[in-house]
Amino acid sequence: MAILVTGGAGYIGSHTCVELLQKGYEVIILDNFSNSNPEALKRVTAITGKDFKTYNADLLDKQTIIQVFSENEINAVIHFAGLKSVGESVAIPLQYYQNNMTGTVNLCEVMSWYGVKKLVFSSSATVYGATDKVPIDEETTLGAINPYGRTKQMIEEILGDLFRSDQAWSIAMLRYFNPIGAHPSGLIGEDPNGIPNNLLPYISQVAAGSRQRLSIFGDDYATKDGTGVRDYIHVVDLAIGHLHALEKVQSTQGIDAFNLGTGRGYSVLEMVRAFEKASMKSIPYTIERRRPGDAAVCFANPEKARNQLNWQANRGIDVMCEDTWRWQYYNPVGYKETFDKQIVGKTPLHQATGFLMP
Ligand code: NAD
Ligand code: UD1
Repeated sequence: MAILVTGGAGYIGSHTCVELLQKGYEVIILDNFSNSNPEALKRVTAITGKDFKTYNADLLDKQTIIQVFSENEINAVIHFAGLKSVGESVAIPLQYYQNNMTGTVNLCEVMSWYGVKKLVFSSSATVYGATDKVPIDEETTLGAINPYGRTKQMIEEILGDLFRSDQAWSIAMLRYFNPIGAHPSGLIGEDPNGIPNNLLPYISQVAAGSRQRLSIFGDDYATKDGTGVRDYIHVVDLAIGHLHALEKVQSTQGIDAFNLGTGRGYSVLEMVRAFEKASMKSIPYTIERRRPGDAAVCFANPEKARNQLNWQANRGIDVMCEDTWRWQYYNPVGYKETFDKQIVGKTPLHQATGFLMP
């Protein structure tokens, strides 16, 4: 069973490829490495002991997508490839619309030509916009509030139109809440470019000493301790969710959206404390003004995924923070150096990686 994984070298894609390979799927990756590093794929092989085909290709180049489909017997597609920074999407909206939407339209067009009509798509909880009704279920009215979020919402609409035009399609749109964590091996994880925008990558760089302190964006929200509350989900749980969605699209026809979250919310301060415990480092912080566009509270109602995908998240915040820290500790410069170089001289953490690069 061959699965095309677009964006397979990225953060969530690489973790999903590990789970796919471990389950015996054949994996074919298409990625233009605009926000990832081929080193991640070497590490996917190191973890799984399996090889796979990789195309260094752009979804904006339809000819190459055709080449990928003509050279492989693809059964289904998991589509991660996209640009994902909210701030950047406000600054360069046209690039976001072109990359995310045109890329998806090109992909679906070629899939259609080759009769491959099973698709798992990376959507985002960001499609719900600034709702204050929690927990958020899939019936909540969509209302993305920035260009990135609107690309996801519009792609969901495009996929709906596609299904209505041809009911042979089977599409799962997965609305992720806040993915964090890393593979327990410490070999793959999130490797943001420049200053991280998201909370956990920032906290882990503070713990590692590469940033001085965390700025907490507001402590005057109507939450348990005044700081923002989110539904953090371990990236391995999220990756496994894709395998469940894949089974669903392979066994049925239709289109549906599923929240992938834990159903539990944690505040920024709770995450700081959990990370301090996992890393045994202190995380200095200052309280700053609220970040524009931030909701006070956001967490999922994950019942639909539990009932219809037979999936639920199992890893709690302690494991999420431990795994994030192991990744940060062993890979202080992410994928910019090979693992064996970065690990030299390091005192093993309480849980060693158990994996070494060949
Ligand atoms: P990522 O940036 O690590 O991975 C995306 C991958 O897609 C990268 O490897 C990038 O090089 C590739 N890519 C981008 N545009 C491409 C193109 N035109 N052609 C080929 N490859 C291309 O991001 P991620 O965190 O792994 O997210 C994966 C998907 O999940 C994205 O669509 C993102 O919008 C969505 N998502 C992510 C989060 C999150 O917090 N990480 C939350 C919700 C949704
Ligand atoms: C952000 C994106 C959202 C995306 C999600 C998952 C914005 C406005 N939204 O959401 O579209 O789907 O990531 O990747 O960027 N925080 C701090 N200090 C920091 C960073 C964050 O206090 O340096 C706080 C935030 O105010 C928030 C919480 O930590 O309360 C989580 O922030 P973040 O990790 O950026 O995720 P989201 O805000 O949920």
